[in-house]
Amino acid sequence: MDINGKRIVITGATSGLGLEVLRLLLKYDVHILAVGRNMEHLPKDNKVFPLQCDVASREGVEMVFSEAEKKLGGIDLFWANAGFGCYQKFGEPDWQKMESIFETNVLSPFYSLEKLLTLYPNQKIRFMVTDSIVGQMEVPGYALYAATKFAVNGGMKSIQYEVPGNVILSIIYPVATRTRFFERAGTSIDKSGPIQSSEACARAILRGIKKDKKNIYPYRLWPFAYFMLMSFPFVKHFILKMRNKELQRR
Ligand SMILES: NC(=O)c1ccc[n+]([C@@H]2O[C@H](COP(=O)([O-])OP(=O)(O)OC[C@H]3O[C@@H](n4cnc5c(N)ncnc54)[C@H](OP(=O)(O)O)[C@@H]3O)[C@@H](O)[C@H]2O)c1
Repeated sequence: MDINGKRIVITGATSGLGLEVLRLLLKYDVHILAVGRNMEHLPKDNKVFPLQCDVASREGVEMVFSEAEKKLGGIDLFWANAGFGCYQKFGEPDWQKMESIFETNVLSPFYSLEKLLTLYPNQKIRFMVTDSIVGQMEVPGYALYAATKFAVNGGMKSIQYEVPGNVILSIIYPVATRTRFFERAGTSIDKSGPIQSSEACARAILRGIKKDKKNIYPYRLWPFAYFMLMSFPFVKHFILKMRNKELQRR
């Protein structure tokens, strides 16, 4: 996809991966609706239209689409990237937390994609969603987060078969990436697996956009590592047992 001339919506553009990709996109002739809640790190640039909005509700998503129409005059690329994790032992009943993580990580991207398909039925459009390797492999401590990202993986993979030819649906699978994600999740970055800088991850996402990739693996070795872990389940089991020991020591 040629990035120049595109009208782009990024949710979760105010920090981490979203912000890093937004900075790279500013080298192109683009207009970006940058959505988030804490706007202080957004670059001041006439290509960027900030929108302070909580996307974890139907009203929030509706607002994103109506602002995109007003500010950009439409959408060519929608990136549902806003999300958060939580690291905890399972067994601390908190309905509100469960609701909030599912609304942000699951309902919001699915509803956004449905809106996009309905509003632009005949236009060439692209939808991207940030999943995670935790949407492919379980990790103790991340049960709720994994539940949301597995839901995204299964749902979006199914929809990849359904979307018409004018739509490209891309799923992004980052490994542990240096952003504020871990601090917000109540832990520190996981050192037992691959780690990537947010800059390297953002560059890989941009390459994925340019090449119209349906599945974007910012850490290139992950598909191989995943294949090996699935082929030798006892290795995976051993690693996850170690991770659980770490969790139980908290
Ligand atoms: N970092 C990793 O290791 C990693 C690995 C795999 C997948 N991911 C996924 O990558 C995505 C981006 O995370 P990140 O690593 O860049 O973390 P981050 O630095 O914490 O950024 C998260 C972004 O999502 C926004 N956001 C969260 N909830 C929102 C809501 N209800 N409404 C609007 N915006 C909301 C935040 O906005 P405000 O800051 O303005 O609130 C922020 O811009 C997430 O979906 C995450 O699950 C991250």
